[in-house]
Amino acid sequence: MNNRQAKIVRTRADLQAAIAAERKKGRRIGFVPTMGALHDGHISLVKKAGEKCECVVASIFVNPTQFAPGEDLDRYPRNEEGDVARLGEAGCNLVYCPSVEEMYPQGSLTNVRVEEMSDLLDGIYRPHFFYGVATVVARLFIHVKPDVAVFGEKDFQQLQIIRRMVRDLGFGIEVIGGETWRDRDGLAQSSRNVYLSEEERSRASAMFAALHRAACRIRIGVPVEEAMKEARGHILAAGFSKLDYVSAVDPLNLQDLPDGPLVEGQGCRLLAAAWMGSTRLIDNLGV
Ligand code: PAF
Repeated sequence: MNNRQAKIVRTRADLQAAIAAERKKGRRIGFVPTMGALHDGHISLVKKAGEKCECVVASIFVNPTQFAPGEDLDRYPRNEEGDVARLGEAGCNLVYCPSVEEMYPQGSLTNVRVEEMSDLLDGIYRPHFFYGVATVVARLFIHVKPDVAVFGEKDFQQLQIIRRMVRDLGFGIEVIGGETWRDRDGLAQSSRNVYLSEEERSRASAMFAALHRAACRIRIGVPVEEAMKEARGHILAAGFSKLDYVSAVDPLNLQDLPDGPLVEGQGCRLLAAAWMGSTRLIDNLGV
């Protein structure tokens, strides 16, 4: 732990002045976008950005365009003071906390859609979600103009969509994935875990256990669909009330893999989303 304090900037103009001063010193800019309510996983992304760049910028912005009406926008956990303190300790130099108006100036009509990849998996259950994410991340990239951006692998579909957007639009930013941070029992750390009751929390790690077991089964040659069927059964048996999906996909385009044993050289990522009470949890694992 150190006593470094991150500087807060709230406007695009102040952010760009602060970044210009860093660039003048020859520093590269690493960027970690967040919605706040930071946990150890976010902090590890900040440290990763710090390994690549001399200046680390994080943003805290609860992006309204990625929430549908009725989702948890209003109750999404917020703790700016605590987050900024943690970011400073982790070596972050600048924290960008824009207002909604700063990110979406009045009358703003432009959105970013990464077709196909946004309409699969989570996109089926949250059709607005990846359009909101791609739009805000594109806007943040334009404000920050980083050399490197770091996103958690916990949100694997988001990470791959952003990689694709950066490639398609030629942002010239290196996108790096940071490993998922897990509690001791395997539950992926997420800002939404605070919604779980003690009893729900004790059952929630079953999703990771099911994915882990399925990955092992696929590795020994069990047909993909059989392993997915078993994983679905394990998740429901552990007390998840509803299963949105458990899928084995090609990590690059997120398309379902054909059934049968995994072909040598074929990448495979397992992704799951399920409800524990009123909390929707997602997780994923490479095979
Ligand atoms: O992963 C998140 O916290 C958000 O989706 C992101 C990338 C900060 C965009 O709002």
